[in-house]
Amino acid sequence: MDHFDYVDGAMQVEQVPMAAIADAVGTPVYVYSTATLTRHVGVFRDALGSLDNPLIAFAVKANPNAAVLATLAKLGLGADVVSGGELLRAIAAGIPADRIVFSGVGKTAEEMRLALDHGIFQFNLESEPEAEMLSEVALSMGKRAPVAYRINPDVDAGTHAKISTGKSENKFGIPYDRALESYAAARDLPGLDVQGVAVHIGSQLTDLAPLEAAFTKVGALVAALREAGHDIRTADLGGGLGVPYDPALPVPPSPAAYGEMVCRVTQGWPVRLMFEPGRVIVGNAGALLSRVVRVKQGAQAPFVIVDAAMNDLLRPSLYDAWHDIRAVTPVGQRAAANVVGPVCETGDTFAMGRDMDVVAAGDLVAFMTAGAYGATMAGTYNSRPLTPEVLVSGDKWAVVRARPPIEALIAGDSIPDWLAD
Ligand code: LLP
Repeated sequence: MDHFDYVDGAMQVEQVPMAAIADAVGTPVYVYSTATLTRHVGVFRDALGSLDNPLIAFAVKANPNAAVLATLAKLGLGADVVSGGELLRAIAAGIPADRIVFSGVGKTAEEMRLALDHGIFQFNLESEPEAEMLSEVALSMGKRAPVAYRINPDVDAGTHAKISTGKSENKFGIPYDRALESYAAARDLPGLDVQGVAVHIGSQLTDLAPLEAAFTKVGALVAALREAGHDIRTADLGGGLGVPYDPALPVPPSPAAYGEMVCRVTQGWPVRLMFEPGRVIVGNAGALLSRVVRVKQGAQAPFVIVDAAMNDLLRPSLYDAWHDIRAVTPVGQRAAANVVGPVCETGDTFAMGRDMDVVAAGDLVAFMTAGAYGATMAGTYNSRPLTPEVLVSGDKWAVVRARPPIEALIAGDSIPDWLAD
């Protein structure tokens, strides 16, 4: 559920008309709803209500805007980070270090030092060489790093290949079948305190069965490791729960159904459970607001050319992702249209032959469910400035990332001496 609703024929976000934001900030612009963020945190937390003190670490990669992170920090969430940059953003937004977990296959020694300096809750290690490096870095600082190994359970998440992470051929985690050996080796590394097991098999999962299969493997490993004398105290079950994008498709499992499955599968595990939800918290809390530049005749359907492009919202061109596209002020007619951006690539296409509200040049459209992996994946291709972001709360709203002037983009480059004259 979200808080983007039609009031007197025009879309509002909470109590703010989308048109008012477009008029003041220009388009394209990402718009986020605090009420939706708050609701999603509540729903996810309630779903895990019967667990003892779970750590819910928001996957910062899904939306690292400082205002979004500060909202989630106030609601008590921790953070799952995958770079020194994300770590510093999370801390700057008020997320305490003891609620931060550091994932990712390529942590550098410098990033490890930074995280150790801040005293984060857990490093999720993804290989033995990484464990050796972290041990050395921690020892050199006179510390012991709290760690889990992320295991690769070889489970097919049944999602898009580019966002599947739990198959043996994927780069993530250590092989499940060799986990006991990897843990035994880690125990001998004096800079590590081996405290947990972690798993994350992919994103936008619309079926609980692969998650249940992976979690069952984690449970068996926790038991085997404790049997082997490891003091395993945490199990990080990752993120991955899908959200509805296309109203014509079956609704993905609810957080409540996910929570019921988690509570059933993990019953009696002697560990603190951790979660890394991203999309399910922020996905439906954001929309990309864009204006129609012009409508051009097409062979089968008209091309609706909008001022947002693949650099602003990459998901359709990268994963063939489906985002609902709604007129901000619908005229009450629908027809098939191709919605495209101005970038000079055929891949800069948001929808082909989409049955949608009829729109004309100058009208506003909203790309829904754009709060996760939207602005954070934006770039400046075709020398288009990064997309600004707005946060709404009730009848208040604020620009939480301004649109940079094109001059800033140009000034970012420099011309070497030998070309100067
Ligand atoms: N934990 C780890 C270790 C992850 O790699 C991810 C996402 C998450 C948690 C959060 O997953 P979520 O709950 O959001 O599904 N750009 C793609 C999604 C990439 C997901 C990467 N990892 C997209 O736009 O669909």
